[in-house]
Amino acid sequence: MEKLRFSIPTLLGVESLAADELRRMNLENVQVENGRVFCEGGISDIPRMNLRLRTGERVLMVLGSFPAESFDDLFEGVKALPWESWIPKEACFPVKGFSLNSKLASVPACQSIIKKAVASRLGKAYGCETLPETGALYQIQFSIMKDKATLMLDTSGAGLYKRGYRAQGVVAPLRETLAASLVLLSGYRGKDPFCDPFCGSGTIAIEAALIAKNRAPGLNRTFSAQKWSFLPTQDWLQAADEAMDLEFDGNYDIWGGDIDPAAVALAQSNAVKADVEDILRFEVADARTFWRKEDYGRIVTNPPYGERIMERSEAEGLYREFGKAARNLAPGWSINLLSSHTEFERTFGKSADKKRKLYNGMIKCDLFQYRGKKPSKGT
Ligand SMILES: C[S@@+](CC[C@H](N)C(=O)[O-])C[C@H]1O[C@@H](n2cnc3c(N)ncnc32)[C@H](O)[C@@H]1O
Repeated sequence: MEKLRFSIPTLLGVESLAADELRRMNLENVQVENGRVFCEGGISDIPRMNLRLRTGERVLMVLGSFPAESFDDLFEGVKALPWESWIPKEACFPVKGFSLNSKLASVPACQSIIKKAVASRLGKAYGCETLPETGALYQIQFSIMKDKATLMLDTSGAGLYKRGYRAQGVVAPLRETLAASLVLLSGYRGKDPFCDPFCGSGTIAIEAALIAKNRAPGLNRTFSAQKWSFLPTQDWLQAADEAMDLEFDGNYDIWGGDIDPAAVALAQSNAVKADVEDILRFEVADARTFWRKEDYGRIVTNPPYGERIMERSEAEGLYREFGKAARNLAPGWSINLLSSHTEFERTFGKSADKKRKLYNGMIKCDLFQYRGKKPSKGT
């Protein structure tokens, strides 16, 4: 089987989670960089990764890399790649990408050089001057970093965070890939009671439910590469079968609360779309009086930061009250809370056991982690 190289872009701070996911799917040579993970596999891994990755943003197939210090280098390097092996005559092949720390700094100029080089190669291969570009989408992506160009094809289409369950137009929702990352970082695997007391549109609780069931997050959507001629339909069907075979059935205790009834209604409808409504409960509830009777459990949550939907001082008051409520829980509860608020620990009333830097969109945040002491068996 021919080995292909893949690049999986990730949100900053979750690269190692995506790398773990890839290793568990038996991808080879997994290498972590800032904001992306490389790996190797076969063509049938394209559907497997797209359907199952929770923390990766998309799956890019690497076609080649070469030094490019001038537009000539870029044109010749791109033209030397065997584009006709991947892109059919009718394909639509737009180009996008980025350049960092390189002589070729103008992205629009690079885009147009790459487009010309690919069109010239394909035109020659297919014997036509103008390519129709009426067919399936083969999105070309490039990166130029430290004068090295890498050319890729985007197999995903819409970003993998678009699982297909979330309504549009929600205020301050968390990206699904970040929500899944928070759940994985909390160590939740489906056993303990799980709560998000500031659930908003329910993203964290829904991702927790998908993780608990080991449900592939991409089963309800489509991907660009499903229309690609060199990728057999059979591979998509097999990958979906494999993913469904890995799913568990079980009893889970997953709860989300929010003070806003409209948010709760939205969370409920999103859970129905994600087909996990049977294992989730959403309720109108005030996090300032949050309490659970169990000896242990996990809280993973994303309260207002005082940047987008609430004033800073209001957010501080909320953290103070939630901190008091959290201290009434049994010591077996762990708390994982994402906030960009620089005074979070002081207002919450306790220093975190661990902090992890993450980005929620452009907002630099910390995941404040408070470990729970799970009661040992027999006590
Ligand atoms: C940043 S949003 C959470 C977004 C959520 N993670 C999502 O993906 O949609 C914070 C949520 O906290 C809720 N909230 C504010 N004060 C609250 C309180 N006292 N108790 C419970 N929820 C509260 C807001 O209504 C809002 O939905």
